[in-house]
Amino acid sequence: MSAQTVVLLGPPGAGKGTQAAGLAAESHWPHISTGDILRAAVAAQSPLGLQANGFMERGEYVPDPLIIDLIKERMAAPDARGGVFLDGFPRTAPQAEMLDQLLADLGRQPAVAILVEVARAELIARLSGRLTCQSCQRIYQLTSQPPRHSGICDVCGGTLIQRTDDQPETVARRLAVYDEKTAPLIAFYEQGKRLTAVDGMGSQDQVAARLKEAIGWS
Ligand code: AP5
Repeated sequence: MSAQTVVLLGPPGAGKGTQAAGLAAESHWPHISTGDILRAAVAAQSPLGLQANGFMERGEYVPDPLIIDLIKERMAAPDARGGVFLDGFPRTAPQAEMLDQLLADLGRQPAVAILVEVARAELIARLSGRLTCQSCQRIYQLTSQPPRHSGICDVCGGTLIQRTDDQPETVARRLAVYDEKTAPLIAFYEQGKRLTAVDGMGSQDQVAARLKEAIGWS
């Protein structure tokens, strides 16, 4: 795969953030997560964070104009020139169209998408036990990927927290919003012959190996 922009597509809990972090660590490409950027903005109580907070707490999408502005800025940064792994963006049709236009304007190749497919019951089980480091954003799972010491990040010693949107009612809403607004992007990338579907079930290492094959790294 020679594309410079790889979109990780998939429902909440599919492992997009986990896998994007691993792929970024093995390459010179940054992992750009709109969810992480928004959560940092909420924590900092910046104007973006104040506007996004209510939507995120309800499991709704943050309005496209806010997301488009933040992606334009992030994609123009020097470290994004070689290539990027996009996690959580695009997730609506206007965002996907904007990304194509932005890449054309920047003189970069069109994005390709990798769809990470995971059974719904597994998504819910994964999210119910997810912990995230407040400092470095490293992701854990109480059953499949527990930290060595309870509540403490193995990497940076930061505090592990449960995301407020991982409560069962909010997870149900997030899955419904994904079905309505993001699942149609599968057809968008399929039509352009830019989609590869990857089985996201199994261990993190098994999924990583499938992703690398899809990207052309193995
Ligand atoms: P965002 O942070 O993007 O959340 P999401 O898309 O719902 O995805 P998740 O982060 O929940 O899941 P993931 O697929 O990354 O899974 P993970 O690797 O963590 O967005 C949050 C909110 O921000 C949105 O609801 C919206 O409000 C807003 N937002 C963000 N982007 C937006 C946009 N573009 N437009 C509008 N609004 C936007 O893994 C999940 C768990 O499973 C972890 O515990 C992990 O350890 C575990 N795990 C991973 N892989 C495996 C495996 N193979 N086996 C077992 N466990 C595994």
